[in-house]
Amino acid sequence: MQKAKPKEKTANESSSTEKGKKTFGLLRGMHDILPKDEKYWKPFFHVAEKLAEHFQFGRIETPIMEEASLFVRSLGRGTDVVDKEMYIFEDRDGTRVALRPENTAAVVRAYIMHGLWNHPQPVKLWYWGPMFRHERPQAGRYRELWQAGFETLGTHDPVADAELILVAYNFYKDIGLPVEVHINSIGTPEEREKYKTELVNYYRAKRSYLCEDCRKRLGKNPLRLLDCKAEQCQPVKEEAPQIIDWLGEESKNHFMKVLEYLDELAVPYTLRHTLVRGLDYYTHTVFEIYPATGEGGAQSALCGGGRYDLLAEELGGRPTPAAGVALGIERAVTALKQYNEQNKKEMPANNLQVFFAQLGDRARSRALKIIDELRGQEIKVAFNFFKNSLKAQLELANSLKVPYALILGQKEVQESTIIIRDMESGVQEIVDQKKLESMLKKKFDNGAKKE
Ligand code: HAM
Repeated sequence: MQKAKPKEKTANESSSTEKGKKTFGLLRGMHDILPKDEKYWKPFFHVAEKLAEHFQFGRIETPIMEEASLFVRSLGRGTDVVDKEMYIFEDRDGTRVALRPENTAAVVRAYIMHGLWNHPQPVKLWYWGPMFRHERPQAGRYRELWQAGFETLGTHDPVADAELILVAYNFYKDIGLPVEVHINSIGTPEEREKYKTELVNYYRAKRSYLCEDCRKRLGKNPLRLLDCKAEQCQPVKEEAPQIIDWLGEESKNHFMKVLEYLDELAVPYTLRHTLVRGLDYYTHTVFEIYPATGEGGAQSALCGGGRYDLLAEELGGRPTPAAGVALGIERAVTALKQYNEQNKKEMPANNLQVFFAQLGDRARSRALKIIDELRGQEIKVAFNFFKNSLKAQLELANSLKVPYALILGQKEVQESTIIIRDMESGVQEIVDQKKLESMLKKKFDNGAKKE
């Protein structure tokens, strides 16, 4: 068991109500996703799902908890995620479990366990769900974070790397957020070891110019030197040896091929020689995507990914070259909100087609039936049975920006008719209830033609 640290305050602290009963807040770094956020979360999910369908990634859902050692082995000791951020505990059977801090390790575990290596290769999988990292919460950094991930297992073809970058790039394009791709290659572990020696030699000579953190990194995790944001380390970093010069012919060719594909696909990218990623499993291509206006700081990475050719073997499977990417959903929401605000854009309006207003008890029960019939015809109806006055209901229809309102009062119930009101012109017509669906569809068709 981990040693318990002193109890932290919750973000929204528990408190006592007037009646003396305790109310509950959130754990620090956790957040609720409320209906007001749905206009982001829902289309984001749909965009991810559509991309998965188009690029033929099959959905995989793995448990939120796994054996802790799966992540320790995959991500590596010495990484921030393993050393400082995992939620690890013993369950009631004494098993050491972890809330998943990411999902690539679990996907590879599933690939090996279910014999997916027996299927035609590559196997392409995607997921959507929460991950947990006990990080220091700040803007864009949560302890529960949602990711959409795409993984391609069983091929070392560079086209797979390019395809994954294209999927991620298209995600941001489809949600309406301009982004830039940063890319690098970190080669094989052997190439990286040679490079690390060179890097350490170079940095050692400049030790006196480095920040406290970098002095520590020098001994512990030299590649992280390249991540340092401290002002004083920047000149040293700029002149540092570049990993690309330490790659062998094969690694270089792989990387060149990925870049050629991106050129062909017209996906703009920036080569960033300091991009090394913070998890141990990566080999060859690594990349991150940032908002186009972003500073390129670690916190604003919208997504990250790369190749992990050796992970399956590390987890007891057969050699399985693979690559993947995970997109942070909260960061996409924040970045798009910011972008829309700066550019005076709004999320597309809901696609509600009519608002159903009813007056009186008899109308209300008849209304339910008609609404259900319209639903069966895939007509999207909004309604609110808790507002009684017509004025209040029409105001609501207005705020929902629906093109038509249906009005059903006692008189219409008796005569089996209903009023269709054009919300823009205010023109109303009375139609037979039996003809309602066909009338509405005609109006929608005409409306679509006008647009
Ligand atoms: P990662 O870079 O650790 O990679 O996370 C991917 C994305 O998740 C980040 O770019 C960021 O948008 C989001 N993210 C990470 N931590 C937080 C946090 N504390 N709060 C909010 N958002 C966060 C991975 O997880 C790898 N599994 C990616 C991958 C897939 N590599 C190969 N396949």
